Amino acid sequence: MKNGYLKFEQIGMSFRRGRIATEVLRDIDLTIAQGEFVSLIGHSGCGKSTLLNILGGLLKSTRGEVFLESKVVDEPGPDRAIVFQNHSLLPWLTVYGNVAIAVDKVFGATKSKSERHDWVMHNLELVQMAQARDKRPHEISGGMKQRVGIARALAMQPKVLLMDEPFGALDALTRAHLQDSVMEIHAKLGNTVMMITHDVDEAVLLSDRVVMMTNGPSATIGEVLTIDLPRPRRRLELATDPEYARCRAAVLEFLYARHRVPARAAA
Ligand SMILES: Nc1ncnc2c1ncn2[C@@H]1O[C@H](COP(=O)(O)OP(=O)(O)OP(=O)(O)O)[C@@H](O)[C@H]1O
Ligand SMILES: [Mg+2]
Repeated sequence: MKNGYLKFEQIGMSFRRGRIATEVLRDIDLTIAQGEFVSLIGHSGCGKSTLLNILGGLLKSTRGEVFLESKVVDEPGPDRAIVFQNHSLLPWLTVYGNVAIAVDKVFGATKSKSERHDWVMHNLELVQMAQARDKRPHEISGGMKQRVGIARALAMQPKVLLMDEPFGALDALTRAHLQDSVMEIHAKLGNTVMMITHDVDEAVLLSDRVVMMTNGPSATIGEVLTIDLPRPRRRLELATDPEYARCRAAVLEFLYARHRVPARAAA
């Protein structure tokens, strides 16, 4: 594990509308080690997606810099693949085609055609979607679409996998299955992952650290909780684990006691 692999230094972000600027993020400092799984949790509208999109190079921060392996991040790149809440598959391509398009783009010059084919199939197998390779997005379920989105992101061999509420639109059972798959893949590949979630159990189950954000405007990191639970983690065993319960309570306390959304706080 390399320390300081990914660094947010003094990130600030304001959105300007005419002459009025709203400060969404302020003084974000965070260092993530290679291979670490970090979740970002906070109330709606606090700026989680904004922060992830700055790391993705889709937005430029108004202050501070993000460094990946000591290089400033200032544009999108295949070293930071993003999985969004609602799958972003191309509807006219098959499952295979949706992964192949990314593989061709990233490895077109360095892998042969047959190597690229094997790599697409390997990544579809990782998410258990190889058997559905010829289906189009409208022919598969929401959970399957998310799997393909994850396969496509992994196939780019990104340095960092960014996930913005990747399971948010799924039912609880499918969600649990996909969480298990993501844990298995993370154990196998050792990716560095930054994931946004609203789900406290999901954050505690999957993460090495949970980054808790204060409410906006001018949101910042309120607290970082280290989840010291051994891996592999099994949800059934954790249900009765006192350390799991302690971590879960700490996140709940942060979100609902100390940083309630103002409307609810007034109620
Ligand atoms: N392009 C933009 N222009 C102006 N304001 C924006 C823009 N993008 C986001 N914002 C504002 O920044 C704030 C943070 O938005 P963001 O999408 O990062 O929140 P979030 O924490 O991801 O919320 P949610 O949990 O609902 O997804 C919101 O007040 C939003 O209105
Ligand atoms: Mg968001």
